[in-house]
Amino acid sequence: MLDRDELRKKIIVALDLDSSEKAVEMVQILKGEVGLFKVGLELFTACGPDVVRRIRTEGAAVFLDLKLYDIPHTVARAVRQIARLGVEMLTLHAYGGPEMIQAAVEAASQEAGRLGIPRPKLMGVTILTSQAASGGAQGPASIPGISVEKMVVFMAKIAEREGLDGVIASPHEVNALRQNVGPKFLIVTPGIRPQGSDEHDQKRTATPQSAVEAGADYLVIGRPITQSADPLMTVRNIIDSICS
Ligand code: C5P
Repeated sequence: MLDRDELRKKIIVALDLDSSEKAVEMVQILKGEVGLFKVGLELFTACGPDVVRRIRTEGAAVFLDLKLYDIPHTVARAVRQIARLGVEMLTLHAYGGPEMIQAAVEAASQEAGRLGIPRPKLMGVTILTSQAASGGAQGPASIPGISVEKMVVFMAKIAEREGLDGVIASPHEVNALRQNVGPKFLIVTPGIRPQGSDEHDQKRTATPQSAVEAGADYLVIGRPITQSADPLMTVRNIIDSICS
């Protein structure tokens, strides 16, 4: 059984907000209660790398979720820049293939080594949690005869083999992943919805408690926290719900 402090470190708050001020305010409220803050496409394109520096100045750790996907050279150069920001974690699409993944890992290691800082953890995006498990013309999830679970496990094995630290996957695939990857390979799950909260556009969701029980190392939670009237109380209730 994990204690409150260990559970707290598993929570990643998705700062899907449109200004540095709103993001820093949320960080100031929550930094003692969660492990990491995720800066994604909206906040990064609105505010640029400076918002990452501002969050770091608050003493908080950053997960930079830019979901890189390009030719190996371009991804490697972007990863070097990201490593300089001192983030704890970053994302790239596992779908980018072995060469892209290897180039990213090598760039992160070299740049962190050169700066004498810890290498950011590189996490592979598998299949977006907004894609349903079946039906519809919804991208890779709808390839006939191949389940989302099989595709996620397939991509995770490539990611692990090529040196990524873990993957992003929906809570529904955590069990299958745990059986197919090593115990140290990290699993980060978005699509987390506390009991009774709005699903928004997420399709393959689970409660915080069931995701942790299935073996998730980190839970990404955005709107249920950032859009709540009292984000601090919401986070505390989430941690209580996992403990109970
Ligand atoms: O608000 P919500 O809790 O749905 O936020 C989930 C966050 O996780 C969003 O920032 C989204 O971009 C991200 N994410 C996701 N599914 C993935 C990878 C990232 O929902 N597969």
